[in-house]
Amino acid sequence: MKSIYVALLGFAALQSPVLADQALAQKSNCLACHQVANKVVGPSFKDIAKKYAGKDVSATLVGKVKGGGSGAWGAIPMPANPQLSDDDAKKLVSWILSLK
Ligand code: HEC
Repeated sequence: MKSIYVALLGFAALQSPVLADQALAQKSNCLACHQVANKVVGPSFKDIAKKYAGKDVSATLVGKVKGGGSGAWGAIPMPANPQLSDDDAKKLVSWILSLK
């Protein structure tokens, strides 16, 4: 029975890249400080997308997601995520920047 749910979840994730990336953000603990539409500890992902709309910032943001940093939004620092693979960091950043 459990495997049916797992298969269904996998199917849903494949059908919906947005949900798959949200699940990755959940798994990577990003949602402890960020929400898609509301500021929590960090800026909302939509605000990030708005701020950088039309700008070529993916590489910078991937570096910041992996290495951490502060000063773009305020004094609270974004923590480093050295355990995150480059691939996952890129996926998360392009998902965040695609939000509207
Ligand atoms: C402990 C809280 C915390 C966690 C966990 C966290 N963030 Fe952040 N994040 C922040 C804060 C605070 C900022 C604002 C930093 C600043 O002002 O430069 C931020 C900023 C960002 C930015 C914008 C950076 C910029 O220079 O504008 C991105 C993109 C981002 N976070 C993505 C992520 C992703 C992806 C994850 C999960 C891997 C994550 N964050 C996990 C707190 C967090």
